[in-house]
Formats: sequence, C-alpha cells, structure tokens
Amino acid sequence: MNEKKVVHYLKDYQAPEFAIPTISLTFTIESFYTNVLNRMSIVPKKSQQPLVLDGSAKLLQVVINGKALCPYEYNVEDEKLTIHTVPDEPFQLELTTRLYPDQNKTLMGLYESGNNLYTQNEPEGFRKITYYLDRPDVMSQFTTTIIGDKKRYPVMLSNGNLLDSGELSNGRHWVCWRDPFAKPSYLFALVAGQLSVLEGSFTTKSGRKVALKFYTRPEDKAKAGFALESLKQAMKWDEERFNLEYDLDIFMVVAVGDFNMGAMENKGLNIFNTKYVLASSDTATDADFEAIEAVIGHEYFHNWTGNRVTCRDWFQLSLKEGLTVFRDQEFSADRASRAVRRIQNVRVLRSMQFAEDSGPMAHPVRPASYEEMNNFYTLTVYEKGAEVVRMYHTLLGEAGFQKGMQLYFQRHDGQAVTCDDFRAAMADANGVNLDQFALWYSQAGTPQVKARGVYDHQKQTLTLHLQQSIPPTPDMTEKQAMVIPIKMGLVGRDGSVVSFQLDGENNTITETVLIFNQPEQTFVLHQVNQDVVPSLLRGFSAPVRLEYPYHDEDLILLLAHDSDPFARWEAAQTLYRRAVAANVAALQAGKPVPHHVELAKAIAAAMNADLDPAFKAILLQIPAESELWEDAQEIDPGLYVQARQALLQNLATTIEHTLAQWRDWAETQERQSSHPCAQEYYPDLAGIRSLYNTLLSWGVQANSALLTQIQQDYEQRATNMTHEFGMLTAINHLPETGRDQLLDRFAQRYAKDDLVMDKYFNLIGSSQRADTLSQVKAALEHPAFSLENPNKVRSLLGSFSRNIRHFHAEDGKGYQFITDYILLIDAFNPQVASRLVQAFNLYSKLDSKRRILMQQQLQRIQQHQGLSKDSREIVDKILSI
Ligand code: TRP
Ligand code: ZN
Repeated sequence: MNEKKVVHYLKDYQAPEFAIPTISLTFTIESFYTNVLNRMSIVPKKSQQPLVLDGSAKLLQVVINGKALCPYEYNVEDEKLTIHTVPDEPFQLELTTRLYPDQNKTLMGLYESGNNLYTQNEPEGFRKITYYLDRPDVMSQFTTTIIGDKKRYPVMLSNGNLLDSGELSNGRHWVCWRDPFAKPSYLFALVAGQLSVLEGSFTTKSGRKVALKFYTRPEDKAKAGFALESLKQAMKWDEERFNLEYDLDIFMVVAVGDFNMGAMENKGLNIFNTKYVLASSDTATDADFEAIEAVIGHEYFHNWTGNRVTCRDWFQLSLKEGLTVFRDQEFSADRASRAVRRIQNVRVLRSMQFAEDSGPMAHPVRPASYEEMNNFYTLTVYEKGAEVVRMYHTLLGEAGFQKGMQLYFQRHDGQAVTCDDFRAAMADANGVNLDQFALWYSQAGTPQVKARGVYDHQKQTLTLHLQQSIPPTPDMTEKQAMVIPIKMGLVGRDGSVVSFQLDGENNTITETVLIFNQPEQTFVLHQVNQDVVPSLLRGFSAPVRLEYPYHDEDLILLLAHDSDPFARWEAAQTLYRRAVAANVAALQAGKPVPHHVELAKAIAAAMNADLDPAFKAILLQIPAESELWEDAQEIDPGLYVQARQALLQNLATTIEHTLAQWRDWAETQERQSSHPCAQEYYPDLAGIRSLYNTLLSWGVQANSALLTQIQQDYEQRATNMTHEFGMLTAINHLPETGRDQLLDRFAQRYAKDDLVMDKYFNLIGSSQRADTLSQVKAALEHPAFSLENPNKVRSLLGSFSRNIRHFHAEDGKGYQFITDYILLIDAFNPQVASRLVQAFNLYSKLDSKRRILMQQQLQRIQQHQGLSKDSREIVDKILSI
C-alpha cells in the first residue's frame, strides 16, 4: 500500500544504545485475546537518547519506573515505539500489549493452531508480541509467567526451567518459567494448550540427567518415538565429536501442524513442524525418518551454535545456519552411509543453490543488504554456508577444525558475534592466515573452474592448469580470486590408484588437497609412472563448477574405478548431462534422439558392481533440469524435460533386464533381512528400498505393463509407506486411469492423516500427466486442503511451481494459476507467498515467448494493492534483471 521501501545494509551496523539485562513477561490468555505485560530493566549506554523499540502489537500502556506515561510522551509509528525522554540511569519500563492470536495467520509472533497457542519469533516475530529491541545482539534473561484456563490450556510452556506454578480462581492456573541463559528475543518461545507428552531422559557425559519431553496432539503421541531416539543420538554425538554438552535440566520439543518452516531452536523449547517429528513406518517413508533425524539434530546443535553463541545481526545468519547445517550433515553422515549423504547434500546444492546463485536473488553467504529478512533464509545462507564451513574443515583437518571450534567457544560463549569472529577463531587456533578466505562470505555467484591436464611420459609429470572466474551477479560485477581447495587423486588407465609427489616434496602420496587461490595456477605432480585420468574435486571439496575436458571413456573409467565415491557418482552425472545435451540438440534439430549405448553399459556395470545399494540408487538419479540448462539463455524448459525423459526411457529400455534382476534382488534382500520388523526404518534396509523404488521408477519407463502388476500386488507390497509411496511415485506420470484409481484410494485411506495427505498433494502437483493443472485445481477443493496451512501450500502449489512441464506451459496458464494463489496467500502469510514468487526466478533466462507471459504475471504481482514487502522485494529483483 503505502509501505515505504526500506533497505537494511550490513555496513550501517551500530551497536545498540541500551542494554536490557532482564525481561519479565506475563501472558494472560483470555478467550478472544491475550494480554502481555512486559517489564524490562533498561540500561542506557549513552545519555539523552530517545528510546526506540520495535513493535507492531496494539499498545495499551507505557509505564516508566512505576509512572504511566501520557500519550504525548511517546509515539507509535511505522512499527516503532519512540519514548522521547527516558532516564539516563537504569530504569524499569512496563508495557502492556493486546494480541489476537486466532486472527494471526502469518504464523509469526503468537498464533493459534488447532486451539493451541504457539510462537515463532525468528527473525523478527517478537515485535508482534511486545515492543522491544528486537535484534539478536540484545541479550536478556527472560522470566515468563503464563496465566490461562486450566481446561483449555492444561500445558503452558516457555524457555528454561519451571520455577513455580499454582491455581487461580475461575478454573485458571499459572506457571512461571525462567531461562538462566541470556538470549536474544528471537529465541523466546511460548506454547499453551492441550498436548500429550512423551518423556525420556539423557544423562550427559558429566553425569547430569536431562528430562526430554516431546509434546504432540494426543493422537500423535505414538509417532514421536523415533524423534525422541534421534534426539538422544544427537546429544551423544555432540558430546563425542564436538565435546559439547547440553546445559539445562530439561529439553522440550513441541510439534505443530501450522508452521512456516521446518523447525525452530528456541532455547530449551524447540518448536517443530509435525513433518519433522511424527513418524511411523505406515505413514512415513525412510526418507522422512532420515529427515527427522537430521532436523532434530540440527535444532539440538543450535543450542551451542546459535544459542550460546549467537549472531550480532541478521546479516550473520550463516554464522549459525551454515555451521549448524554442517554439523547436522556430519551427524547424519556419522550415523550411516557417509558417501551417500554427501552426494545427497551436493545434489540439493547443485540443483537448487547454484540456480539461486545465478538468478535475481543471488547474494553472498553473508548478504550485504536486505529488505525483508524472512527472504534470506535461503539455500545460499544454509547450504552454501555449510559448504564454506566444510572448506575450513577440509583445509584444517578434523583436529584443526575442532581446535578452531574450541577457541570460538572460549572467546565468544554468551556473545552475539560475526562470521569474521568465526573465521578468526579458525585462523588463530591453527596459526594460519584466512584473510583471502573471507571472500567466500562476500562474493556471490558460483565460481567456475576450468582445468586442463597434460601428462609427460618422459618426465613422468602431470601438469594441471587451473583457471577460476566468478560470474557477475546483480550485486557485483568484478570479483577477486578465491581460495578453492581441490581434493584430488589419480586413476590409472587400468583403474589402479596411481601415486605421485607434489612439486618440491619427496613423499609419495595418493591424494592431496590443492590450494587453488589465484586466477590461474599450475600444479605439477611428479613421479607419475603412467598415463592417468585425474580425479578432481573429490568429495565435492568446494562449491564450484568444475570443467575438465574428459573423454567419455575417462568418465566411464572414473565411474568404474575411482576410489572416491563422490567422484564416481560425479562421473556418471557428467555423462548424463552430456547425453541430455545431445538429446536437446537432436530435438532442436528435429532429429530423433540418439541411443546412449556406452552410458547404458556403464550404468549396468555399476549396478552389477559390489556397491552400497543406496549408492546405486543415487547413481540412477539423472540431474535435475536446472542443472542441465545451467546458465543457458533463451531456455525452453519443456525441451529439457523432454530430453531428460527421453534419456531415462532410452537407458531404462536398454538395460531393462539388469534393472529387473536387481529389483528382484532388492526384494529378496528385504524379505530375508535379519531385522525383526523389516517394514521399519533401518539405514541398511532404507538403502535397499531406495534402490528398489528407483528401479521400479525406471522399470515403469521401460515397460508400462508394470502398472497392472503394481495394481494387482499393491496391497501385498504396501508393507510400509516407503513401498506404498514408491509405487505411487513410479506410476504417477502414467496416463492410464489405473494411476488415478491408485491415487484416489490412497487419498481416501489417509484422508484423516495430514502428513500423508501432503504426500498425496505432492504427487498431484508434480505429475507429468497432461491433465495435471486440472487435477491440481480439483485438489484445492479437497476437504484436507487448506491455503492457511504452509505444508499444504508447499505440497500442492509448491510442487506445481517446480513442475517444469506444467508451470512453464506454453499457454501461460501455469504462471497465471500460481500468481492467482500467490496473491491470495500474500494477504495473510507473506512469508509463504514470497517463497512461491521465487518460482519465477528463471524469468530473464527464458525464451521470449515465456518471458512475455511471465512478465505479465510478475507485473500483476508488482501492481497488486497491499502487496507485502516480502513478495515485493522478490518481484522487484526478478523484474529488474
Ligand atoms: N532457525 C530455524 C532453523 O533452524 C529457521 C526458522 C524456523 C525460521 N522458523 C522460521 C526462519 C521462521 C524464519 C522464519 O533453521
Ligand atoms: Zn537452523
């Protein structure tokens, strides 16, 4: 409407002018509103300053040192409360606000969900509750009293330890919680309502017993067991690997169905999307179990990386998120299948973060500016941020990295700090210079590395020549060379490991990390006794695009023999990318797509090799379209879908027999498993089922008669949700009515299970079938669907917005449809709406026909009356390039 555009800059940071050592909050929950009394001790750091607090709640009263202020003594405007004159000495400020949580559909601040009350305050939700210095560098000791009806709100929770509780008249009761650790407002949490609790305990390595409590709806309690077990594993792992112990006597997790993101690390009181807590093998897939373990770990690990040491300002978000994602990735990798976990993480990074980094939203790991902070909980801050932390680990080794962590906590426990402080701890603890490394925090865009290698028989040397460049991004054109650790080894033509010596050294090694930190650099490897294929960027040692002029045979060799599993997988990915590119070229020229016989043979050989089933499954994942078009211009997205699909079909048909054999093998393995209940989640069985399901999807491509077989055996094969969902995924794109019958039955059976219905909506939204848009529209009317529930929006509309064939339909109906719903959702939940707007990120790279169609819809969003600043920031950025 008339919202002013305000841009926040990192360079403008100023320390707060007041400290707030203590805050005591009293929430009085009435039937239709909640009153919040906020009593703060405030310490001015300078004299004669007006006090300016952030806030947008309805303000009822302002009292300083016991004296109520008159309206002219303060001013509320643009979400700020300004008190013109405050004492120069420490003083008490009391504010009363009134909230209407049942009307709050933003799911930020205090909101109602299923008759219970929950909070979400990161990054700037606290200002919807009361007026405060709502910024992470203001840390305070919180005491929270909650008063509510005993029947309606039997459970009332906040951070820290329960101090006291009691009964009141009129069927009401009260509780008082105190968190002994000073914290920023974004970590404050409150939950009140009717909840069941699943209890456990964990004894820390120093012998303290911690009570663990999982709060859910009563009917969900039986599904919280796996999350509780994961929490215990996470607590143990953090002690063993990072020497970090939990610091309160109680740790609570609350599951809520209406939640904007995955989960939130509020001190001692994590609040989770039900998706990342509730699981049973008949309603959750193996992948869901793995995600629960990862997210439970992630939020728990924040207790040290985020809570004990927090961020100075929101530009530093990656300080806690990049580091904590790295920690959760390592936790998952230490639990099971390290190599496969690494590949899964790289897949997300490459298919999604690389796209973000080359589009209108490109920003550094530490952004230099933002309009709406909610828009910066991005793949770049989280996933690329984790890669940056992983590079410290690669450069310093596990021992050096842990020394850095130790110094970081020694220096900064209890403080709000910056990414530079983290880098300094890593550098100082190891006596190394990491100045150039800072560029990873300030330069956006995915670095491109071009590599060439020349083998000299005579001298027995391999000369590697490397060149780096960082593409321009909307925020910056000229960029400096970065520190790129390149982990590498050599593979002989016979598949053997070939050793070498580094320039000027005389120890013989088989693997090294080259420190590539110039625009161009040459590395000479000595004592290379045979012609070799270099295996570069092992383990994906840096988040870059690496190009090496491999022959297809070199890649087939690496796929078959490289000792590094990532490099093997990567060789297959490159072969897939080349094959799709050849298909694209053929389709463009109006020619039939080629057969990819050599690739098919190499894939079949990999299937027949002695490899982890989960690894084989991930080897069969053809790169996503976004990786295939990379930075192409004038993209026709449909062409890539077609070319990729043609490759899948061609390969599946060529090696159908091998694939069917391994499907039978996987089925037998599961049947004969030594696990007592083979339908349950176990990492090894999950690997086998993931191979089985992937092979089933390939099988359907080769032979659509499999549908009939799936229909016949459905009940018998649906021993758990992994199998059930695997079958539905495999047949989801088929045009036959058999597909609809299976999906309908699924929807009927699970109509009452929200999380399973999300899976149903996901299948509908992501189907390649011709009638997907009309099926999505029909699904909007399903009684289980709700626009107010972010999980539902993400599963149906989010999946459709990523459905390349249909979102980018040539008639523009996909763009129009998503725009209609962006505008509806933006009116009550800007955070969810602005995520959907990012479906349009491809705008400037599309062919002109689609660019025009998109532009119409983007302009419609831009011109919409009352558009949120969240969506405005995104749409403006998309249209300005
Ligand atoms: N800090 C949360 C995490 O662990 C992110 C988060 C949860 C969040 N809910 C949010 C961020 C709401 C913004 C808004 O990653
Ligand atoms: Zn996090």
